[in-house]
Amino acid sequence: MKTEDTKKNLELNIREMEIDDIPHVFHLGEQIFTAQEAPTFYRTWDEYEVTSLFNSNNEYCLVAEHDGNIVGFALGTIVSKKRSAWKYGYLIWLGVSPDHQRLGIAANLFDKLAERMIEDGARIFMVETEAKKGAAFKFFKNKGFGKPEKHIYLTLNLKTYQQLQKKERNRSRKQKNGKNSA
Ligand SMILES: CC(C)(COP(=O)(O)OP(=O)(O)OC[C@H]1O[C@@H](n2cnc3c(N)ncnc32)[C@H](O)[C@@H]1OP(=O)(O)O)[C@@H](O)C(=O)NCCC(=O)NCCS
Repeated sequence: MKTEDTKKNLELNIREMEIDDIPHVFHLGEQIFTAQEAPTFYRTWDEYEVTSLFNSNNEYCLVAEHDGNIVGFALGTIVSKKRSAWKYGYLIWLGVSPDHQRLGIAANLFDKLAERMIEDGARIFMVETEAKKGAAFKFFKNKGFGKPEKHIYLTLNLKTYQQLQKKERNRSRKQKNGKNSA
């Protein structure tokens, strides 16, 4: 970022992602969605996230280009639910290079994506973000999102799971043997 870049004079090109952008978007996402920064995201950032969304939802994969570099992206999809006439716009990944934040880049990406989704019939926009009130939470609040639904992340140690299963098997075997000997 040049020191003179400000929200007002930033030359930004928001456009559909192209095949040559895939590695750039992937590597930028690696910087943004580190396990430390986003440990509880339901999805994990990997190359398949980018390639599969690009294949299936090209029109909802947008990039922000500045000075010939990709500095941000928004990847989304439209979800239709069974027995509901409503379509939901789902913003899956939104990221801006740490050196280019607070310049309105995410806001521009979001506005363009929302515009496309509205054109395609979406009535509600959904996003997933960290519960702690960080940049993303503030960003979405600023865009008018509300009514956060709490998700609880449960974890299960699979060693414990195996031990529980073994106990359960032993218990039912004992019960069966008890019945047979009666
Ligand atoms: C969230 C994120 C995409 C915002 O990108 P950005 O380009 O810096 O956001 P913008 O400059 O468009 O911000 C627009 C408004 O959102 C709010 N906002 C954004 N970042 C903020 C921050 N760090 N602190 C407080 N408010 C913030 C402000 O209201 C801001 O307007 P202002 O600068 O005039 O005050 C960026 O911080 C990011 O990539 N975070 C990591 C990835 C992530 O959590 N993605 C979202 C879930 S997939």
